[in-house]
Amino acid sequence: MPFIECKQIVKAYKVDDHEIVALRGIDFEMERGEMVAIIGPSGAGKSSLLNLLGGLDTPTAGSLIVDGDSLLDLKGRALAKYRLHQVGFVWQEIDKNLLFHRSAVGNVTLPMMLAGSIPFGRKKRARELLDSVDLSEHYHKRPTQLSGGQQQRVAIAVALANQPKLLLADEPTGALDSVNSDTMMSLLMDLREKHGLTVLMVTHNMEVAAYADRVLTLRDGALAQDMSGSEEELKIDHEGRIQLPKNAQPRLKEAARISVEVRPEGVLLRPEAEESDNVDALLQSILPQDAPPEKHTLFSRLFRRKRKQEKKQ
Ligand SMILES: Nc1ncnc2c1ncn2[C@@H]1O[C@H](COP(=O)(O)OP(=O)(O)OP(=O)(O)O)[C@@H](O)[C@H]1O
Ligand SMILES: [Mg+2]
Repeated sequence: MPFIECKQIVKAYKVDDHEIVALRGIDFEMERGEMVAIIGPSGAGKSSLLNLLGGLDTPTAGSLIVDGDSLLDLKGRALAKYRLHQVGFVWQEIDKNLLFHRSAVGNVTLPMMLAGSIPFGRKKRARELLDSVDLSEHYHKRPTQLSGGQQQRVAIAVALANQPKLLLADEPTGALDSVNSDTMMSLLMDLREKHGLTVLMVTHNMEVAAYADRVLTLRDGALAQDMSGSEEELKIDHEGRIQLPKNAQPRLKEAARISVEVRPEGVLLRPEAEESDNVDALLQSILPQDAPPEKHTLFSRLFRRKRKQEKKQ
């Protein structure tokens, strides 16, 4: 069983009287211990996906399983426990990672305090974690007394405070120069090995993404076809026609149009994005035609709302 299993994940945000569809039916899996980088332009839905996996938000539709737990079934205490113990989060926004009135040790002990661990044990572990991110000299400094790279390393120590199995890092090197980015990534690789972490990381930087076992591209809320596991090579025949590997054929053959993009990581072929911004139309297209939505599902709530809106008009 994969460590992470996302099936047909849709995320729509309601803003005033319209909906923004951030994720349009994402399917993806990760093995235990794997490190995957997600790249993609601003607004592609990268942070939205990480928030769902971190249990910080719920999908509009689809299923999400992490280490055997179905996140949609976790409520109240079970969900709080998942957030505190199973997953460590490094945020894109630097001031979300750390409390500025607490020292480095104080920041790392905070999640342990919330988890109810004993005071002596938590200070000891906080110091060990800060040692492992090369901050032995800075235990008692507050974030404002640390450089950007040092702050991000404290953030990693905070994320690992309760020994999570999954580390979600949203642009962990976004504010760092290339030297600091390399230091950060080397540290992350060591920590991944030492703690047996599964790591899902968002980045805009291809050099950072190259540290990962696999790179996925997210664009307009959809994942590009991942062919990294394919043993077949893409061939171009003597008339210049592209022969697609077999595992890429089903999805691309069904598409009415395929877009071709030359990107830093390679040439990206993918079915053209859905034109529709309408979440109901999107859900309709994802649902099997012969399976009307059952009562009390997330789908049915959306359909009922649509019907109500139609009646009003
Ligand atoms: N809480 C929210 N409420 C409404 N819309 C949101 C919310 N969060 C994200 N969105 C919208 O969803 C889409 C995806 O946003 P998201 O933050 O996931 O993108 P991103 O790929 O992380 O972008 P960036 O690289 O700029 O961080 C965007 O159109 C964004 O405006
Ligand atoms: Mg983001």
